[in-house]
Amino acid sequence: MSVRRFQTLDDLGDIGGQRALVRVDLNVPMEAARVTDDTRLRAALPTVQALSDKGAIVLLLAHFGRPKGNPDPEMSLAPMTTPLADLLGREVLFVPDCVGADAATMIATMKPGDVAILENTRFHAGEEKNDPELARAIAALGDIYVSDAFSAAHRAHASTEGIAHLLPAYAGRAMEAELDALEKALGAPEHPVAAVVGGAKVSTKLDVLEHLVTKVDHLIIGGGMANTFLAARGVDVGKSLAEHDLTATAEHILDAADRAGCTVHLPYDVVVAREFKPNPATRTINVREVAADEMILDIGPAAVEALADSLKTCRTLVWNGPLGAFETPPFDAATVALAKTAAALTREGSLVSVAGGGDTVAALNQAGVAGDFTFVSTAGGAFLEWMEGKELPGVKALEDSPAN
Ligand code: 3PG
Repeated sequence: MSVRRFQTLDDLGDIGGQRALVRVDLNVPMEAARVTDDTRLRAALPTVQALSDKGAIVLLLAHFGRPKGNPDPEMSLAPMTTPLADLLGREVLFVPDCVGADAATMIATMKPGDVAILENTRFHAGEEKNDPELARAIAALGDIYVSDAFSAAHRAHASTEGIAHLLPAYAGRAMEAELDALEKALGAPEHPVAAVVGGAKVSTKLDVLEHLVTKVDHLIIGGGMANTFLAARGVDVGKSLAEHDLTATAEHILDAADRAGCTVHLPYDVVVAREFKPNPATRTINVREVAADEMILDIGPAAVEALADSLKTCRTLVWNGPLGAFETPPFDAATVALAKTAAALTREGSLVSVAGGGDTVAALNQAGVAGDFTFVSTAGGAFLEWMEGKELPGVKALEDSPAN
C-alpha cells in the first residue's frame, strides 16, 4: 500500500452541522428522463451515507452532459433526486443552482444529515474554464470539499480542481477505492503484468500503448487497432478497419516494446466476414489468409487459448477495450472467453484484475463477469488518461489541498 498523499474521510473530525460539498459523477446514461444504468449513483452511496451519518449537510456537486456553459433543462440534475433517494433510503433535496444567494438560503434550511443535489455545474461557463470566481462562489456554500468523482478527475474544472484549493479537501470512498485499485494495477503491481488494450483505433490510444510497453510484461492488442499492427507487420488485412497511415507509429511502438522486454500479443488466427452485420457467414482462418474483400472482426479461438495461457502466468491484469466487434454477434466470442478466464483466475486468487474505460464495462457485463474482476472502474476518459501515465488534475488538487 502506498503512502497516502491526501486526506480521506477517515481524517475528518467532528463535522456535525458542517456543509460538505461533495463532487460526484452523476453523468449517467438516461433515456426519457430515466436513469438506465445507475452504477455511478451506487458508487456515490458510501460517501454520501458516511457524511450524512456523521451529521454533515451533504451537498452534491456534479455535471451532466455537455451544456457548454448555459442552463439547459434537458441536462438538469433534477431527475436524479428520486433514483438517488431510492438507493440511499433517505430524502434528497434539489437546489436549482450550485452558486448564489437563493442556493445559500435553501441550504441554510437544511438540517444535519440532510442530502441535496445542486444543479449541473456545467450550466456555468466558468466550470470548464476552471474560473477561480466560480470556484470561490461554489466554495462559499460549503465548509469542506470531498472529491468522489474519479471519472471526472481528468478535467481541471472549477468543481473538480479549483475548489480543492479553497476548502479543506478529502477523497471520498469511491475515489479512494479507484485510486487503490489503480495503484495495485499499474502503480506498484505484482509482476508479471498483462494489459489488454482493445478498441477501434490506434490513434485514440497511442499514448496508452506507448506508456504501457514500459510498464507491463504482456501487451495484448485487440479490436480494430490490432489490424493496424498486423498491417505494420506486413499482414494483408483485406477490408478490415485499419489505420494504414499509422504503420510507422505501430512499428515504433513494437520496437519500444522490444527494447522494454514487453511481449506484444497480436492474433495469429482471426474471425473474418464479408459483411459487418449480426451473424453473417464467417471464416476462422490464419491471419495470413484474409481475402481482399474480408474484414477481421474478432480474434480466433487459438489466439484466445494462447492468451489464456499467458494470463495464467500473470499476477496482474489491466483491461481496457474489447478484443473484437463485441456488440455484434458472434464477434463478442473472444472478449467473452478471455474475460471468463480472467474472472476465473481472479476467483482462484492468482490474478488481480482491474478493468475500465468506455466499452469495457459493457463488454464485461456481456460476459457476465464484471462482478468477478478485482475492480471495475466507473471511469471512461479518466481511466484512459491514467493508463497513459498522466497525473489527473482532480487527484493532484487533493494532494495540494489546504487540509494537508
Ligand atoms: C464521463 O462520463 O466520463 C465523465 O463524467 C466526464 O464527462 P466529460 O467527458 O463530459 O467531461
